[in-house]
Amino acid sequence: MRIYDIIAHKRDGLELSDEEIAFFVKGYTAGEIKDYHAAALVMAIYLRGMTDRETITLTNEMAHSGEMLDLSSCGGVTVDKHSTGGVGDKTTLVVAPVVAALGARVAKMSGRGLGHTGGTVDKLESINGFRTELSPEEFIEQVKKIGICVVGQSGNLAPADKLLYALRDATATVGSIPLIASSIMSKKLAAGAQCIVLDVKTGSGAFMKTVEQAEQLSRKMVDIGNACGRKVAALITDMNTPLGNNIGNTLEVMEAVEVLNGKGPEDLREVCVALASNIISLSENMTPEKAESEVRRVLADGSALSKLSQLVEMQGGSVSQIQNTELLPKAKFCHEVLSPADGCISFMNAEKIGSSSVILGAGRVNKGDSIDYTAGIILHKKTGDCVRKGEVLAELFSNNKAAFAESEKHFVSAFEFSENKPAIIPLIYKVIR
Ligand code: URA
Repeated sequence: MRIYDIIAHKRDGLELSDEEIAFFVKGYTAGEIKDYHAAALVMAIYLRGMTDRETITLTNEMAHSGEMLDLSSCGGVTVDKHSTGGVGDKTTLVVAPVVAALGARVAKMSGRGLGHTGGTVDKLESINGFRTELSPEEFIEQVKKIGICVVGQSGNLAPADKLLYALRDATATVGSIPLIASSIMSKKLAAGAQCIVLDVKTGSGAFMKTVEQAEQLSRKMVDIGNACGRKVAALITDMNTPLGNNIGNTLEVMEAVEVLNGKGPEDLREVCVALASNIISLSENMTPEKAESEVRRVLADGSALSKLSQLVEMQGGSVSQIQNTELLPKAKFCHEVLSPADGCISFMNAEKIGSSSVILGAGRVNKGDSIDYTAGIILHKKTGDCVRKGEVLAELFSNNKAAFAESEKHFVSAFEFSENKPAIIPLIYKVIR
């Protein structure tokens, strides 16, 4: 078999065989297939697409290119959640303890923030002492003991995807539905959970700019998961506006704790309830209505918050910062952004708002950059709110005063105003199971 022929087959619109896909994934992971060959094949896939069978084979091959976690000793139904990435998306900090409080086993590997989106690992590390690097034995032991563990992604999980993702990033081939679906699902399959709930974001701050694209991606991922023996649901949720009011690592921990205290912004709470209810309904074979009432119960009675405290304690973090979020570190400087106009906010570009937060120091431009955990934004107004010129739109926080001017410019350019209130945008567009 020759990689040259595989590229030519895809270029000409033929369906690749399982053997051809396996040859490519194994050869590329082993360093035997060159980047220029892989880049040509990936571009041919981008242009020609993949059938369902090809996509499932590609996913399975990438999943098996490294370690496949065995969670069978965790003692219960193992669950996982994945978000395609957004701004202010702190749902894992709420959903994971909620479902663990209801008996699901959460063995979760999360990512760091990159670009305008945040990552759960950075948020957890903003709590003093929290360790996100555990050995595989410690990881499984903790899930057995308290039903929840959240760590950074193991280096050997789906290494083929790591290589291919970097190649796609450099060759304008990220935005292909079969390639995105196989990339995400290969990591989820390798991470081992039996039930997976996907939060597929759509809108100005998301990868998938339209609901139609998000639905195609969701269906593909649900089909792949089912074909590989996992129970999967996908929720298509809005990312035209940041989720909740707080953006930035410690600020997001504070807001997640508010929701676990039965308070917090309604949009964040409702998306968390929907995600957690779908996980419980899949893992416990419960009706969606019953699952939702159980989720609301553990949010109201404090048991989900206790589960977060247990998680933080087990991973070396400061429980007192969870019990009293005023103890979390704070940025030295705060700057108010005032509305430049009278009117109703008709649109917010969530990607630009995420980037304003990165400028303040909350995120990284390149992998490996250091971040300021205390930097970020508290939104005082969101889409649909009407304001007077000079009213406070948001507070910016940073330890670098010099960053405020650029961040503010970027932030204000994300807003559009109209005379009348805009139509209400749904928070959850669809659930696909
Ligand atoms: N996230 C992933 O993990 N892979 C993609 O291809 C896109 C988003």
